[in-house]
Amino acid sequence: MADVKDSWGKLTASGFEDAGEKIFLALLKDDAIKSNFPKFKDIPYGSLPGNAAMRAHGAKVCKVLDSFIKGDDGAATNVGKMHKGLGMSNDQIGAMRGALVTVLEQSGLGGAVGVWGKLFDRFMEVHKAAY
Ligand code: HEM
Repeated sequence: MADVKDSWGKLTASGFEDAGEKIFLALLKDDAIKSNFPKFKDIPYGSLPGNAAMRAHGAKVCKVLDSFIKGDDGAATNVGKMHKGLGMSNDQIGAMRGALVTVLEQSGLGGAVGVWGKLFDRFMEVHKAAY
């Protein structure tokens, strides 16, 4: 897990808003995914960079990932309950895996993709258990 913590520290060095923006720009490229977000679905993709609401949302998601990386499984359980309540499936949430890989690679942290895959598997296990 040391590699996850190290790469996460680099990815979030300039703050959760910046990291969250990168992650959401990767995630929302797919219109089918974007359409699930009331706040973003009507914003053309090209207008999303720098969007304050997306940066704030991304920061909240990063906070959950940060807590989970630090060992708080409850962070994934709580967000699982919330996503369930929103009618989101675990398959839909799994789309975050590809977005994280994209951002790691874009940030020169492609070497950490393997350990992140394992972390994300565990995140999804805990997330699923909340359904
Ligand atoms: C690691 C993966 C993810 C984490 C940690 C996460 C975390 C969160 C958090 C913390 C919120 C609440 C934001 C708030 O309070 O305003 C949220 C809302 C939401 N999430 Fe996720 N999320 C993840 C992946 C996804 C994915 C991949 C999708 C869609 C495919 C998704 C769909 C949603 C939706 C639709 C909302 C409600 C947004 C709104 O009401 O404006 N999430 N998520």
